[in-house]
Amino acid sequence: MNFNVAVIPGDGIGPEIVREAQKVLDAVGTKFGHVFNYTEVDMGGVSIDKHGVPLTDEALATAQKSDAVLLGAVGGVVGKDSWYELPPNLRPEAGLLAIRKGLNLFANLRPAYLYKELKGACPLKEEVADAGFDMIIVRELTGGLYFGERKTEEVDGVLTATDTLTYNENEIRRIAKKAFEIAMKRRKNVISVDKSNVLDSSRLWDKVVNEVAKDYPEVTLTHMLVDNCAMQLVKDPAQFDVVVTENMFGDILSDEASMITGSIGMLSSASLREDKFGLYEPSHGAAPDIAGQNKANPIATILSAAMMLRYSFDLDKEADAVEKAVEKVLEDNIRTVDIMSDGMTLVGCKEMGDEIVNRL
Ligand code: NAD
Ligand code: IPM
Ligand code: MN
Repeated sequence: MNFNVAVIPGDGIGPEIVREAQKVLDAVGTKFGHVFNYTEVDMGGVSIDKHGVPLTDEALATAQKSDAVLLGAVGGVVGKDSWYELPPNLRPEAGLLAIRKGLNLFANLRPAYLYKELKGACPLKEEVADAGFDMIIVRELTGGLYFGERKTEEVDGVLTATDTLTYNENEIRRIAKKAFEIAMKRRKNVISVDKSNVLDSSRLWDKVVNEVAKDYPEVTLTHMLVDNCAMQLVKDPAQFDVVVTENMFGDILSDEASMITGSIGMLSSASLREDKFGLYEPSHGAAPDIAGQNKANPIATILSAAMMLRYSFDLDKEADAVEKAVEKVLEDNIRTVDIMSDGMTLVGCKEMGDEIVNRL
């Protein structure tokens, strides 16, 4: 079959990791008889430099017309890059928010799984790493603080900044449903994470999640406060199956979840809506500190491409093959520097891509 993929390399390590994911997709195409047609789209800093804005209307339209989007990362050195002085709505990251909102990608799935080969790279206590874990964070992606009204103004001569966190019940209901549907195909356990001891938005979150839960009697639902969740993730990650949470909490908890898998370079993601369309990107950023050095771990992006095969193209066999190839590479003790430990073979970003292709 033929598939049209919009490819957004973005900034920093983006072009390097996306190149490896495309290489893997092309190898899947050769092996299984598919053709992936790519259209490159500018977004982030690279778009600001070329077009003056982080995402042009044409770029959004190209993404919209495709069957799925593959994205690297956007952004520069935090607080220091040439885009830093721009207002928030014109910075590289604004392009990412605009594409998520513009394509209505409200459900961000971030699976965190500890490969047994990476126990050595896991910073948790040995017995916790030995127990392993396999969770998926279902992060609401088009609401909350990221999309609320914001302003900076002088109030009585004092500079004052405001961000607002708003959710309506429909936004909560659709992400809750997504989480329960996913749980039905897994271990039937949902932990809803919020701050309902303080926030109104979390109180509404709780109420709506409880209503949705009634349609899924087989699924066990627990509510957990976000501060406790941050702690439980390092104490006993095996307790988590599906975690559903709002946008900002999901952002923070998924970086934490990524590190206990060994490295943020391992954490893939899919941003979905109700139909088959999706945007696939690693959970990490543009990593400007290692950009252009062939050091980045491309596995998160390659596993995101596997999610694309599974969720947008219904190519389960092909997705399995990519995931198996990643596992095989780890079994064969091949590592990028972020997951390196004693006795392993160190490779660069490009070589990691090659090794995965060789094992497909
Ligand atoms: P980051 O995720 O880019 O990097 C954090 C640390 O993890 C760095 O030391 C980096 O070298 C390392 N790292 C990240 N990905 C890696 C990989 N694949 N292999 C090996 N090491 C990896 O986060 P940051 O430094 O806070 O942000 C840098 C820029 O990226 C900022 O401009 C930020 O806004 C942006 N950002 C973009 C996205 C995105 O596009 N989805 C996500 C997060 C951050
Ligand atoms: C992520 C990133 C983005 C987010 C930033 C770059 C806007 O951190 O995808 O996790 O906060 O969603
Ligand atoms: Mn993040």
